[in-house]
Amino acid sequence: MKNIIALGGSNSKNSINKKLASYAANKVTETEVTVIDLNDFELPLYGVDLEEASGIPENATKLNSMIEASDGIVLSLAEHNGSFTAAFKNAVDWVSRIDPKLWKNKPMLLLATSPGGRGGATVLQSAKALYPHQGANVVADFSLPSFYDHFSEEGIKDETLNTVLNKAISEFQNELHK
Ligand SMILES: Cc1cc2nc3c(=O)[nH]c(=O)nc-3n(C[C@H](O)[C@H](O)[C@H](O)COP(=O)(O)O)c2cc1C
Repeated sequence: MKNIIALGGSNSKNSINKKLASYAANKVTETEVTVIDLNDFELPLYGVDLEEASGIPENATKLNSMIEASDGIVLSLAEHNGSFTAAFKNAVDWVSRIDPKLWKNKPMLLLATSPGGRGGATVLQSAKALYPHQGANVVADFSLPSFYDHFSEEGIKDETLNTVLNKAISEFQNELHK
């Protein structure tokens, strides 16, 4: 049995990205899923002076340990003004102070969604370019446009999108179990 973490790149209580990450992770076979809610890992705004004065907060260490203990990661990124949300970027900055290669070469399924027609495609592209430098092994990626039109817990309503997502999930699954 493999252990994976599902994480939405957002601190919204009702994050659509947390929903998508959890949905996709739960479709991976022979796998135990831990859903991470960023709200359970509150962190002060990163600053070099704060780090020097107070060190690294326990929640950053906990997040780092959860990544370390996992066999794979399903991450769905929320997009704010074309980029990472401040809360998620802040968490990444803290964890990167413990381990610059914070994604630790674990297989990653990289997702993004938004209520709009681009489905967070801009932040997804940024992460695809950036994360390999931070130790990510991005196996597959997928952006779901117009979340509220397309998402249901029973499956993605649009057949083409459903097929593309299932293919990405199965590529991730193969890498995880290989
Ligand atoms: C400050 C702010 C900026 C946003 N910028 C974008 C954007 O650039 N692209 C986009 O697709 N959606 C944008 N949105 C809409 C988000 O995609 C939407 O709030 C979505 O629910 C965020 O994902 P989450 O529910 O997982 O937090 C923005 C929302 C906020 C509050």
